[in-house]
Amino acid sequence: MLLVILCVTFLPFAFASIDITCLPSEEVDALREIGRKLGKLEWDFRQDPCHAWEISSDGPRENNVTCNPEPNSTICHVVSISLKGQNLTGTLPPEFVNLLYLQNLDLTRNYLSGTIPPQWGSMERILNISLLANRLNGSLPKEFGNISTLKSLSVEDNRMSGAIPVQLGSLRSIERLLLSSNFFTGELPASFANLISMKDFRISSNNFSGKIPDFIGEWKNLTSLRIQASGLEGPIPLNITLLTTLTDLRISDLRGPDTLCPPFENTSFKNLILRSCNLIGEIPKSIASSKLLDLNFNKLNGSIPERFIDLQDTDYIYLTGNLLSGTVPNWMTTSADNVDLSYNVFESNRDLRCQMRQTNLFASFSTDNISSRKVSCLGDSSCPTNWTSLYINCGGRKLTDGKKEYESDLQEGGASDFSAVESRWGFSNTGNFLDDNNHDSYIVSGVPTNTSELYMNARTSALSLTYYGFCMHDGSYNVSLHFAEIFFTDDETYSSLGRRVFDIYIQGVQMEKDFDISDRAGGAMKAIVTSYTVNVTGSLEIRLYWARKGTTNIPSRGVYGPLISAISVDPNYHVPQSGGNGNGVSRGIVAGIAGGAVCAIILILGVLWWCGYLRCRDAMELDLHGLELHDLELNTGSFTLKQLKIATNNFDVANKIGEGGFGSVYKGVLPNGTLMAVKQLSSKSKQGNREFLNELGMISALQHPHLVKLYGCCIEGNQLLLAYEYMENNSLARALFAKD
Ligand SMILES: *[C@@H]1O[C@H](CO)[C@@H](O)[C@H](O)[C@H]1NC(C)=O
Ligand SMILES: *[C@@H]1O[C@H](CO)[C@@H](O)[C@H](O)[C@H]1NC(C)=O
Ligand SMILES: *[C@@H]1O[C@H](CO)[C@@H](O)[C@H](O)[C@H]1NC(C)=O
Ligand SMILES: *[C@@H]1O[C@H](CO)[C@@H](O)[C@H](O)[C@H]1NC(C)=O
Ligand SMILES: *[C@@H]1O[C@H](CO)[C@@H](O)[C@H](O)[C@H]1NC(C)=O
Ligand SMILES: *[C@@H]1O[C@H](CO)[C@@H](O)[C@H](O)[C@H]1NC(C)=O
Ligand SMILES: *[C@@H]1O[C@H](CO)[C@@H](O)[C@H](O)[C@H]1NC(C)=O
Ligand SMILES: *[C@@H]1O[C@H](CO)[C@@H](O)[C@H](O)[C@H]1NC(C)=O
Ligand SMILES: *[C@@H]1O[C@H](CO)[C@@H](O)[C@H](O)[C@H]1NC(C)=O
Ligand SMILES: *[C@@H]1O[C@H](CO)[C@@H](O)[C@H](O)[C@H]1NC(C)=O
Ligand SMILES: *[C@@H]1O[C@H](CO)[C@@H](O)[C@H](O)[C@H]1NC(C)=O
Ligand SMILES: *[C@@H]1O[C@H](CO)[C@@H](O)[C@H](O)[C@H]1NC(C)=O
Repeated sequence: MLLVILCVTFLPFAFASIDITCLPSEEVDALREIGRKLGKLEWDFRQDPCHAWEISSDGPRENNVTCNPEPNSTICHVVSISLKGQNLTGTLPPEFVNLLYLQNLDLTRNYLSGTIPPQWGSMERILNISLLANRLNGSLPKEFGNISTLKSLSVEDNRMSGAIPVQLGSLRSIERLLLSSNFFTGELPASFANLISMKDFRISSNNFSGKIPDFIGEWKNLTSLRIQASGLEGPIPLNITLLTTLTDLRISDLRGPDTLCPPFENTSFKNLILRSCNLIGEIPKSIASSKLLDLNFNKLNGSIPERFIDLQDTDYIYLTGNLLSGTVPNWMTTSADNVDLSYNVFESNRDLRCQMRQTNLFASFSTDNISSRKVSCLGDSSCPTNWTSLYINCGGRKLTDGKKEYESDLQEGGASDFSAVESRWGFSNTGNFLDDNNHDSYIVSGVPTNTSELYMNARTSALSLTYYGFCMHDGSYNVSLHFAEIFFTDDETYSSLGRRVFDIYIQGVQMEKDFDISDRAGGAMKAIVTSYTVNVTGSLEIRLYWARKGTTNIPSRGVYGPLISAISVDPNYHVPQSGGNGNGVSRGIVAGIAGGAVCAIILILGVLWWCGYLRCRDAMELDLHGLELHDLELNTGSFTLKQLKIATNNFDVANKIGEGGFGSVYKGVLPNGTLMAVKQLSSKSKQGNREFLNELGMISALQHPHLVKLYGCCIEGNQLLLAYEYMENNSLARALFAKD
């Protein structure tokens, strides 16, 4: 109401000129027109743009108009406009040209549409233009070639198309030219050979044609070059190896002939990515990169030197999907971090497990053959059971959806990780998110609209994610993959502009190319299920691969790569009702306590780890790193305190079946009639988590002739509760009080 009155009162003055400002009136008029076209409604022209307008800077958002005074004068000029993440929905105003002193224009992360005005070509003093993450289309204006001052231009993450104008070859001051994630076509103009002041050149995820030009070798000041899924063909020009200033080289997903790996010798890389570039021959002995070396998915052969001085301190080494042979060098499994050697043909080594100290060795030996059930690092490859179905709630907890019981998949996983659940299934992850300030997380959550809990958690990967179903009964299956895009939005903000694009392979066959979840589902936050019929002998392999298509900066840096919510695999053949397959018989955690005290300790620690992870990771602060929990089947449910209160009639003494040093045990009954024993552990104290673990170890170190099934647990506030299968004759209660 007040607002309306104010508006009505002041409206007549809204277009009145400003009483006092140092800006010339042409610049004020230009700003007025710019504000109107961009949709910057907050700009109030009754106030001085230079001094009275709000200035703010908050992470990815910035709202800042800056003026500089002329020397010895009362006149000033707008030199910088930064409107980042301001939800602007308008178009690009040509009137920026009238701000004759403008040096910096940043409109990053808005929802601006339309084309770039050719008039901008006559900006006289502009140094930086960033239009990153908008929905601009059309082509780059040839008039831009006239901006002799331009140092940095970014149009990354838009929808621009057309060829790059040859006139841009006259941008003699240009140092950063960022064109990635658009739909540009044609060859790079030969005139670009003139851009010798270039430092940072990015053209990934476009539809260019032709070969990577040789003239890049003449850009002597180049530090960063990204040509990933650009459309350009190989080979990688050899004289790029002469650029000793390069620190960040990313070339990937090249078509073209097989070529030797360029012999980088005198370049100190921070990141070196030559992925899926048809490289053959051996890994050059001189290759070095301090943070990351990614030579995944080439055809490199030969062995890795036993001493590889230049690589021993590299944080991430990816050599997945090559033809590397010989022995896996010791330094890789003992001292290096994040090494991925999966899918190679090394000499088999019985001692190596699939996952060793951040080294992924899944299917890396010449004797490994997934389809014939032989994966040496998994140990005994015989199958205790042949499974006829498989349901995984990727990145989520155990869940029943309809008639299907989805298994939990909560192992966080690392950048080069293999993790398996018994002989049933496992996943292998390769890749870490770059440029995201190391907030790597491979389990993600979001709240999609109108969908089941199945879609609230998902597993993501920075490059390649493979799920394996082992010991499958031979036959035909319906493989359904469940997706929902939980990062992007479906509104009129830049968050809706993200494009997540990846490829899907099942049994090594490409089922989807350039799969886009939002596109298929008809929007972000919506669920989509895709189904495929495949023949399985022995094992099932579902691989999601990111071929550097789509956006990488929306809604924030490092959001890209495959993402999957759930997998369901159903037989296309008749499954006998009982016997044989064993599905559903041994589900849930069944711990043989007799003679298995050690197992029980690990089991309970595992459940605690899982519960803590799920419910109150921070509060628990249990330092469980280093525990080998991979092989556990963490398949239990989780209860709320309220559920357990109802089940035990608010822990009624009448239901108490025992009491001991570690707390009380109550008999409880779930609404569906299931009986259980609820162990209420002494409230956890602030510093007592370690103690608590020790206590649990002792609880578990008990003798019991029966099998005990753990139904689930509950951690809420300072309450810690475990729910077990209820056993008659009080035997469980007695068992739990062995100490008494
Ligand atoms: C506004 O921009 C000017 C010039 O670019 C800069 O010096 C200043 O720090 C910025 N202020 C905020 C709050 O971002
Ligand atoms: C500004 O004024 C000072 C002193 O009045 C003078 O020394 C200086 O040269 C002037 N600068 C310009 C750019 O006119
Ligand atoms: C932009 O819109 C989003 C969602 O509507 C909102 O959360 C955010 O605060 C807005 N940002 C600004 C700067 O207005
Ligand atoms: C232009 O961008 C570069 C790099 O992004 C930055 O260092 C520089 O300060 C910017 N220049 C202006 C005038 O804002
Ligand atoms: C750009 O997109 C608008 C819709 O936002 C459309 O009307 C226009 O035709 C497109 N222009 C080009 C050159 O693609
Ligand atoms: C700007 O570029 C266009 C096209 O490249 C050209 O025709 C025009 O003469 C240039 N204008 C100036 C002022 O240099
Ligand atoms: C390359 O960088 C050096 C040092 O920064 C600079 O002096 C030189 O002018 C640059 N070369 C070009 C062509 O911009
Ligand atoms: C890319 O260009 C090729 C031809 O060069 C064309 O066949 C293809 O459809 C284009 N793709 C897109 C996404 O524009
Ligand atoms: C790079 O290679 C091209 C073609 O082989 C050659 O013309 C050019 O002179 C080379 N540049 C340098 C710096 O060696
Ligand atoms: C690396 O530098 C040395 C010494 O300057 C030189 O002899 C050698 O040819 C260079 N290697 C390459 C691949 O350029
Ligand atoms: C599982 O299937 C394989 C191949 O059909 C067979 O050799 C093996 O005996 C089966 N295992 C069980 C436990 O049925
Ligand atoms: C699966 O195997 C059957 C019988 O061998 C064959 O007819 C069918 O084409 C195969 N299906 C697929 C998808 O490969």
